[in-house]
Amino acid sequence: MALTLGKALVTGGAGFIGSHIAEALVAQGCEVTVLDNLSSGRLANLDVIRERITFVEGDIEDPEVLSSAARGCDTVFHQAAVVSVPQTIHQPVTSAAVNDLGTIKVLEAARQNGVRRVVLASSSAVYGDVPQLPKTEAMAPSPLSPYAIQKLTNEFYAELYHRMYALQTVCLRYFNVYGPRQDPSSPYSGVISIFMRKALENQQPMIYGDGRQTRDFVFVKDVVQANILAATHESVSGRVFNIGTSNSVEINALWYSIAALAGCILSPEHVDPRPGDIVHSLASIQRAKEQLGFQPVHDFSEGLQKTFEWYRQYARKE
Ligand code: NAD
Ligand code: UD1
Repeated sequence: MALTLGKALVTGGAGFIGSHIAEALVAQGCEVTVLDNLSSGRLANLDVIRERITFVEGDIEDPEVLSSAARGCDTVFHQAAVVSVPQTIHQPVTSAAVNDLGTIKVLEAARQNGVRRVVLASSSAVYGDVPQLPKTEAMAPSPLSPYAIQKLTNEFYAELYHRMYALQTVCLRYFNVYGPRQDPSSPYSGVISIFMRKALENQQPMIYGDGRQTRDFVFVKDVVQANILAATHESVSGRVFNIGTSNSVEINALWYSIAALAGCILSPEHVDPRPGDIVHSLASIQRAKEQLGFQPVHDFSEGLQKTFEWYRQYARKE
């Protein structure tokens, strides 16, 4: 039997993935609160639903703000984080304050306010460079960056809260998520957003290393589907699930696909490999299929085209 979503809190809900989750929840008739400090998110991401949600500008590091936002909620979708692997390498302490301690504070606010279930955004980064592909949840994690350690710690805490405090928790190990609203404006941004902007501005992109590294890119709407399933499936508390597509794309090929959409003929500049960078990433989604009923429905070329259309319009508005 499926659980109902009830009233929901989305931390990091003004960000890329969180804003799509909030939008889907509103579409399903949920009462939604978004808590975000706007450090990398934008209020504009919530334009479509702004009048139908409660927006709290605040920090997950603040227990009082968290507690008041979680009060009366049935479900929490925890997306707020420092999301860039290199940023956590440059800022190991401040990123841990948000990603580790902030997450414990979210779990604690949920526990104290009688929240039924917390769905947490974890990451495929926890696998590191485990040589076997595809990556399955049964493999031992091998984190290569502060970010990966922080996400792995989140998973341990989530499992602990499930076991020790009877708070229902589900962790989703997203692979590389892409789609409209991913912010391209920082060197810490996701590669697809950076390449989209470079191609539209006819600028040469930078590729770290030889560009033969691969990623399993999953469209944001499929990640939303996974979150809704994780929030509503009855007996999956305490578990982790890979969320990807089981297909991978090489970074060199990614640039040429995006360049072709924009009519850009520039070749990338290759620079030194990025410290902490994983070489190959590919998800097994067998567990999510079997236990959550997850099935990604957006194929890569369709998702890339939709994403490109969004960046084309976004670029005009800037
Ligand atoms: P994002 O930067 O667009 O969203 C993160 C949001 O959290 C932003 O709106 C930001 O303002 C907010 N935030 C950051 N620190 C905060 C704090 N201390 N208090 C309140 N709000 C805060 O990034 P995203 O890609 O949407 O990532 C969402 C989640 O998914 C993150 O937990 C990230 O680690 C995880 N994830 C993302 C990917 C990906 O490919 N994008 C892959 C795996 C996991
Ligand atoms: C991304 C997410 C991280 C998530 C992880 C899951 C972001 C910013 N990071 O990390 O939150 O947990 O996926 O797998 O969303 N690259 C270039 N040139 C560029 C930018 C990147 O060559 O200008 C390369 C990188 O070296 C890397 C690949 O593209 O090999 C992907 O990089 P990036 O988008 O930063 O993602 P991840 O580090 O995989």
